[in-house]
Amino acid sequence: MKIENIKVRDIAKEFGTPVYAYSLETLRTSIAEIKKLAPVIRYAMKANSNVRILKEMLDSGVKIDAVSVFEVKRALRAGFQTDDICFTSDVFFNDDDVKFCLENNIYCNCGTLGMVEEYGKALKAAGTGSSKISIRINPGEGAGHSKKTNTGGPYSKHGIWHQNLDEVKRLAKEYGLTISGVHTHIGSGGDMEHLNRICGKLVEFAKQFEQVEIVNFGGGLPYQYDPDKPQEDISGYKTVIDERAKLLKDHFGRDIVCEIEPGRRFVAGCGTLIGEVRSLNHTFDEDGKRIDYVLTNVGFCHLLRPMAYGSFHPIGFVGDDLGPEQDLIVAGPVCESGDVLTQKDEEPVARRLPMPKAGDLIVIGGAGAYGHVMSSNYNSQPLIPEVVVDGNQCTQTRTRQTLDDILRPETTT
Ligand SMILES: Cc1ncc(COP(=O)(O)O)c(C=O)c1O
Repeated sequence: MKIENIKVRDIAKEFGTPVYAYSLETLRTSIAEIKKLAPVIRYAMKANSNVRILKEMLDSGVKIDAVSVFEVKRALRAGFQTDDICFTSDVFFNDDDVKFCLENNIYCNCGTLGMVEEYGKALKAAGTGSSKISIRINPGEGAGHSKKTNTGGPYSKHGIWHQNLDEVKRLAKEYGLTISGVHTHIGSGGDMEHLNRICGKLVEFAKQFEQVEIVNFGGGLPYQYDPDKPQEDISGYKTVIDERAKLLKDHFGRDIVCEIEPGRRFVAGCGTLIGEVRSLNHTFDEDGKRIDYVLTNVGFCHLLRPMAYGSFHPIGFVGDDLGPEQDLIVAGPVCESGDVLTQKDEEPVARRLPMPKAGDLIVIGGAGAYGHVMSSNYNSQPLIPEVVVDGNQCTQTRTRQTLDDILRPETTT
């Protein structure tokens, strides 16, 4: 496995393990690649909300897709302006969400009929604030790297069902709302074929709303995690978006702003998770075949994706005397047998890797998206540090939690 620009041993020595390291050079390359695709690019900050990464987006002119008011506030703290942010609260608003958005001029993307109504009621009650909203449409089909990340079709809770758009128009009239944006996001880690088809569908939905200014085609750009396979080519998406922009212009007689909001494709490749091999173990199966385990200090509390989705991440070891390659199951410290980094179809599988020994480092690639943001304190494991690598400079942007940090929100009585 190629370990990009990251001085693995130095980082492990200076910051301890496990630790996330992000290469700004790699991040900048992916920002440049994605910026070519559409006139307005948002970053779905749920993928990685590290402040240094947010600042890099800001400096590159990338806007924000936020999924909670906490993310909105985090983006504001990183320096974004309110009109850089679109708030797509997935399926309902929390108590004061709409009030906050009305007071702070945050554009809301409503993903259910109930949200449209709630926005309308809050606007009426406030008597002030923007009457413009966007609607998230479920186009009737979805795609994703896993069923759990597919957000379209009848079995997804997301979006206003595409046959219910007349009801949106009725609510808009009742509450004096302007549907100025239409949006869809059919899933995370999808494929270009689905995305291209959905772009066409969204244009047809947009035509039903005369006052549309913005059409947002969502995120879901694919990323190939296996370095032995060619990276997914997303360049053709530009033509798809350009063609849709032209269709929209022909229909409305004016320019319609076309947006996309990827998360994973921006950041997956820039992140590396570095841990340490702590021990080895082995068992024998029913046929007497030996099964070897490499036990590391990286568990699903640090990187959930293999456990949650059976996701593949490239793995390498760094040590002075790595042994010959053999079939190894690589696992973590957590108290569940699912705490395995080498999985397929949500089952542990052995991977051919050089044999490490205790004290060697483990390096897990493709860890920049849905990595640290999905980590937890399960087993009272502390959240781990994040380090940003810019040329020769390594800056720690998050420290390792202490036991006191973990205990602080807990009452002692
Ligand atoms: C509304 C919305 N937009 C964008 C994204 C980003 O998806 P991805 O990281 O696959 O690009 C997500 C993630 O699920 C999402 O829910």
